[in-house]
Formats: sequence, C-alpha cells, structure tokens
Amino acid sequence: MTDYAKHTCGSLRATDEGASVRLSGWINRRRDHGGLIFADVRDREGVTQVVFDPKDASFHEAEKLRHEDVVQVSGRVRKRPAGTENPRLDTGAIEVGIEALEILNRSEVPPFQVNADDDVDENLRLEYRYLDLRRPRMQHNIRTRHRIVKAIRDFFDAREFVEIETPMLIKSTPEGARDYLVPSRLHPGTCYALPQSPQLLKQIAMISGFGKYMQIARCMRDEDLRADRQPEFTQVDVEMSFVTQEDVIETMESCIRDVWKRVLGIDLAPFPRLTHAEAIAKYGIDKPDLRFGLEIADVGAAFAQTEFVVFKSALEAGGKVVAVRYPGGAALSRRDFDALTEKAKEFGAKGMVWIALGADGMKSSAAKFMTDDAVAALKQATGAETGDALLLFADTPAVALVAAGKMRNEVGERCGLRDPKAFAFCWVTGFPYLEIDAETGKAVPSHHPFSSPGEGEWDLIETDPTAMRAQHYDMVLNGFELGSGSIRIHKPDQQRKIFHMLGMSDEQIEDRFGFFMKALEYGAPPHGGMALGVDRIVMLACGEENIREVIAFPKNQVGRDVMMDAPSPVPERLLRDLYLKSTAPATDA
Ligand code: AMO
Repeated sequence: MTDYAKHTCGSLRATDEGASVRLSGWINRRRDHGGLIFADVRDREGVTQVVFDPKDASFHEAEKLRHEDVVQVSGRVRKRPAGTENPRLDTGAIEVGIEALEILNRSEVPPFQVNADDDVDENLRLEYRYLDLRRPRMQHNIRTRHRIVKAIRDFFDAREFVEIETPMLIKSTPEGARDYLVPSRLHPGTCYALPQSPQLLKQIAMISGFGKYMQIARCMRDEDLRADRQPEFTQVDVEMSFVTQEDVIETMESCIRDVWKRVLGIDLAPFPRLTHAEAIAKYGIDKPDLRFGLEIADVGAAFAQTEFVVFKSALEAGGKVVAVRYPGGAALSRRDFDALTEKAKEFGAKGMVWIALGADGMKSSAAKFMTDDAVAALKQATGAETGDALLLFADTPAVALVAAGKMRNEVGERCGLRDPKAFAFCWVTGFPYLEIDAETGKAVPSHHPFSSPGEGEWDLIETDPTAMRAQHYDMVLNGFELGSGSIRIHKPDQQRKIFHMLGMSDEQIEDRFGFFMKALEYGAPPHGGMALGVDRIVMLACGEENIREVIAFPKNQVGRDVMMDAPSPVPERLLRDLYLKSTAPATDA
C-alpha cells in the first residue's frame, strides 16, 4: 500500500475492529442522517462506509462532499450498530469513524450515476467513458478481460510458443474486408495498410523457423459494424509448423478449456464437431447455437404428393420444405403467427406456413393441405407434440435453410433456451473452399486464399472448384464464430494455382503477394494455425451481448470514438505534407 492508502476499500472486516486505517478513493454515495454524514468511499477493490461526526473537525469539510470527489480519509474501524449491517457488501459489517478528511480533487456533477449499472444512453457512456469504466460491471468486464488474456498467454508460454510482435504498418493484403490506409509522407503517393490480421507475417514466421508462434494481435478492418464487430479488435493469433488440422484443433480447444477452468472455474466437456454440411442441414447456419436442440427437419417427403402449390413448386424445382418446432407455440394467436411470418420475410423467406398443434385440434395457415398423414409425418420428423407449433419454409435449399436457421434462433430466444450462463462450444470443419460474395456475386474463398484445399481435392480446381473443400475449421460458441483457422498451402506452385483460380493474373500475384510467393520458394514448412477473437471470447465469458462492453475504449455503433472525437478533420497543412487533398463533400457538422 502507499502513503495515500494503508488499506483498500474492499478489505476491512469485523475482525479489524479498532484498527486505525487510511483509505483513498471516490465518494460513491453520501447521505446525511441523524446529524451524522455517511459516505461510501470506493476504490477498485470495493466500497467502505465512513461516518463523519459533527464533533470532529472534518465534519464541515464533509458537508461539501459530492459524488465522485476524490478523498483520503483516516479513522478507526468499528462494527456497525446491530441491524444496520449490509450483508450485500463485503465490508458491510463495519464502518470507519473518520478523524481526518482530505479532499484530493473535486468532481463535476457526473452526467449519469456512476455508482449503479443503470441503463444510460450508450453514446453518453462512451463520451464519458472514464466515468462509465468506474462502474462495477465495467470494472468486472475489463478485469476479466485481463485475466483471460493472461491465462491465454500462460497457456501458450507453457507450450513453448513464442510471442512475436508483427508490424502495424504493412502492405495492403486484404483479407475480405476493406483496408485502413496510412499515406506515406516520405514516399509520396503511396500508402501503408493497417493489418486486417497478421496472416502472412505469421506464415512467414513459420518459414523463419519459429515453429510455434502466438500473438495477442490488434487487427483493423474497415467493414460494416455489428454487435460482435469493431473496426479494431484483438485476436489470439496462432501458427504452428509441421502440424495437421487435428494438432491445431487440440491446441486451441485445450487453450479455451484451460481459460474457462482458470478464469470462470468451469470444466468444459470436449467440444462436439460438425461438418459444415451437417451444420447447414441441421441449423441452417455455419455457427450453430447448440445451447438448445430444435434441429431443422427436412419434411419434403411428407409433401411428396401435395397439391399445395407453394410446396409442390419448390420441391419440383429441386428445393426443400423444412420445419422448425416451436415448443408451446400452439398458444400463439393468429396475429402472433402473422408477426412471425413477417420476421421470416426479414430472414429472407418469401413466406412461412405455420401449424398450431392445439389440444383442441390443428390450425394452420395452409390447413386445407395438412392431411392427417402429413401432420403425423411432421410430428415424427420434428418431435413436435400437442401444444407445439411448426413453422415451415419452402424454397431453394439455401433460402429455406437460412430462414429456418434464423427462425430457430428466434424460437430459442422466445422460449428462453439461450441461457447466457451456458457455454455450448463446437467445431465446424470441412467448409467449402469457395462461397459466393453477397455483394459482388463473385466466388471468393470462404476463409482466405492461403488455406489448403481438402486432402485429395486439388484436382477439383480443374473440374469443379465449387465442390472443393478447404482444410478450414471454425470454433463456435453459443451461435458466435469465436475463431477461424486452416492448414495453409506451403508450396509456391500450389499457392499460385489458387490465385489463378480466383482470377488473378501472374502480374497481379506479383504486385500484391510477390514478397510472400518469394518467401514460399525458400523451404516453407507445412504449417497451419488459427485466430480467436479476444473481444468475442470475453463478451461471452462475461455474459454480455455486445463487444463494446468488454473493450475499454471502443468505437460507437457508427465507428466513431465519441470521447476523443475521432475521426476528425486535420489541418490542411498535414494533408499537404502527405500530398493529399480532400474531395469530401462539405458537411454542416
Ligand atoms: P478471421 O477473419 O476469421 O480469420 O478472424 C478470426 C476471428 O477474429 C474475430 N474477428 C473480429 N472480432 C471483432 N471485430 C471484428 N471486426 C472481427 N473480425 C474478426 C472473430 C473471428 O472468428 N487470419 C485469419 C485467421 C487464421 O486463418 O489463422 C483471420 O483473421 O472472432
């Protein structure tokens, strides 16, 4: 402890009765009561009640105290009078009778209450982040983050990984998102890029012979923001030489099990595994939430002879009819089902057929076509019982399954099956090498172009590249993608083949990846790795729904730092130094 504080505000107990103590911290609360002034002094370890008596010189000073003033107090510990103890506080058995008070600094009136975790507008919280971070929930989250990162580092250190810092100013080598660019003053007209991840540098670290690399790495991506995305975020970035997919999976799973044990005291069961095809068929998504069942059922067979044109035409065109069970859903009204149908449309479906299996009989938006046989087959396929509802989607396999998958999550949410305290991990493997980019309609790697195709699948490049799979694996937790990795290509001719498949010319390869192709020429070992999102890990470990809650100084929903006011205009002169001229339209803001 220091001269300012001989004890922390969380440490004093009844057994300290009579001790002379000195505390420093913030005024968490102040109330005047029966001629005495009571205040709670808060530091990072807790809160202690202190009492000022009008007989003491400090009383008049104490009358001036306001919330969030910074104080140093000295006095003697005493037991609280019987009946006034506070069992919810660690220090609730005692109080400190104050002999001396020094106000170390005053605080303006805070724009929101600091001593409670009440709901406050998020932009106000972010503008006054220093006050927001004083609140108990944020202190807990940020300190949990520290413990998680420490446990991760310890895990990899014990396995003899080397933490290597990779540069922030690199060449633009996009990984699917847009790069943040940094114009160079010394080299007019050129830019560095901020790393979207250290992908190529960690592969080069393998070529450099380090064998086992890890880094708590900052990554920057200029992409649309969501609850689980920030423009800058942190990865546990890992790469290993002479390994197979199994080795990487074992390493990363062991790391997470170790973290959960050490930080949360939870023993995790081995993570189940699903192939990408299974995940899509059962859950309609490649990051399934396995906290609950309600698997999607393919019920096309029940409607093979149907006259219902929606189902019939979908099936005839090679599509699917799939069903999601809604436990207890028979109690929903027609209006509720109409609202659910609107939701289904938001999920990409053209429509939705509902069936309510009420105790008083079956109701459905397509009742005419729900023969007894069809309903029996549906119950059989989905495990539905009286009292449940079924939600049906007919379309191309992709559209029907995606909509059903989103509806499954919606039903899970409504039925309270997504327990924030449950941790359902899984691995998804065997991803297709290519996927269609929603924006451009072009085939792009589902992970990145450095992943190796599935064993024995190289020939598919020539015959059917869309059928090719990648040695790419994802770790998923509660419906969030925690991390992705792959076994990499380590032969230059094979890497070139993949670039060619993606439509790049030799010139383009040389221009963008020449340095990497050259490195591969010098004895690159077989290697593979993975990166986990630290922010997402901490978010889920803390039971939060947004990664901003576990990042000390995040950007807001539209990518702004509202505390520092960034991004912001810079003086003309600085732009001139960088040979830049803004063509941004003038704004009033
Ligand atoms: P990928 O792009 O899948 O893989 O990223 C790995 C993990 O990083 C986290 N993540 C993010 N977290 C917050 N905000 C974002 N904008 C964001 N983007 C990604 C996710 C994701 O699963 N170099 C490869 C890894 C490898 O192959 O080794 C990579 O970066 O949790």
